[in-house]
Amino acid sequence: MEERTPIIEVSHLVKDYGHGRGVFDVSIAVHKGECFGYLGPNGAGKSTTIRHIMGFSKPSSGSTKVFGIESFGHTDKILARVGYLPGEPAIPAGLNGTGFLRMMQDMRGERNEERLNYLLDLFRLNPNADVTSMSLGEKRKLAVVAAFMNDPEVLILDEPTSGLDPIMQQVFIRFIVEEKKRGKTILLSSHIFSEVDATCDNIAIIKDGKHVSTFAAKDLKQGEIATYVVRFGSNEDAERFYQSKSDAYETKEINSLRKKVTVAVRRDHFKAFFDALSHYPIREFEEKPFTLQDYFMSFYQEEKTFLGLSGVEEKK
Ligand SMILES: Nc1ncnc2c1ncn2[C@@H]1O[C@H](COP(=O)(O)OP(=O)(O)O)[C@@H](O)[C@H]1O
Ligand SMILES: [Mg+2]
Repeated sequence: MEERTPIIEVSHLVKDYGHGRGVFDVSIAVHKGECFGYLGPNGAGKSTTIRHIMGFSKPSSGSTKVFGIESFGHTDKILARVGYLPGEPAIPAGLNGTGFLRMMQDMRGERNEERLNYLLDLFRLNPNADVTSMSLGEKRKLAVVAAFMNDPEVLILDEPTSGLDPIMQQVFIRFIVEEKKRGKTILLSSHIFSEVDATCDNIAIIKDGKHVSTFAAKDLKQGEIATYVVRFGSNEDAERFYQSKSDAYETKEINSLRKKVTVAVRRDHFKAFFDALSHYPIREFEEKPFTLQDYFMSFYQEEKTFLGLSGVEEKK
């Protein structure tokens, strides 16, 4: 079989910060046109790995390459071809959003106004606001627009949805799926299983700086049943929905104080479920995310069953 050169390659990366902290012998490869999820809880080593890929830090041992170029010392070459979204976007004070975006465009020597306007519109961002008055979510959206505005072929995104509100998270996830369809190569870190599951072809799991497993997303079958938490406008509505009966869904739990109902829905019965909900004013609606913790629990169970899939294999 023909060996494809990966766009991003991390080989036996070690960064030892002492006291068991850091990244220990992580190897991943991201190939052209794929969306690769780098999944792990807080402190797992995701940002450390990504900073090495961008060439900001020197490995204790091992290596990271982008386009076959050793990362360390070549950040400028990498940044010229990669859209990078840092975990904690630092936006210089004293600029407004537009000033920041212009600065980034000038650094790259490229302006694509059409693309920029599309992104501002998609993420509903007003770039004229002063950066110091922006919320964390707005700053992140600004950094997202900056990372995507010159339409780079490769995207490296460190926890891109953190700080975004639930609707914007969904917008972003759909956007990533579209970008992938347009042929982009994407590395995305996250601690949220469901967003990685929704966007990525391949997923690596990291925990305590160590690589736990790499697997193809298509091998992970989400259950037939999805769980949602719906917040209603009034307690009466919540109660009425809670008491309602349907083949499509089953109400599980009601929190009267918060006007929230937890409901299990068969994935092939979404439409009937949404039809039923359309009779109520809904305040909030979210899928209860399948957490990494759930995954670990299932992964380490003796049977190694994962929502009906047995034996998620560790790739050696
Ligand atoms: N510059 C640093 N100096 C010392 N320890 C660090 C440094 N950067 C990260 N760490 C530690 O390395 C571990 C991994 O951090 P990080 O890569 O930021 O995790 P994640 O992005 O997955 O939340 C954490 O224990 C963190 O405290
Ligand atoms: Mg991080």
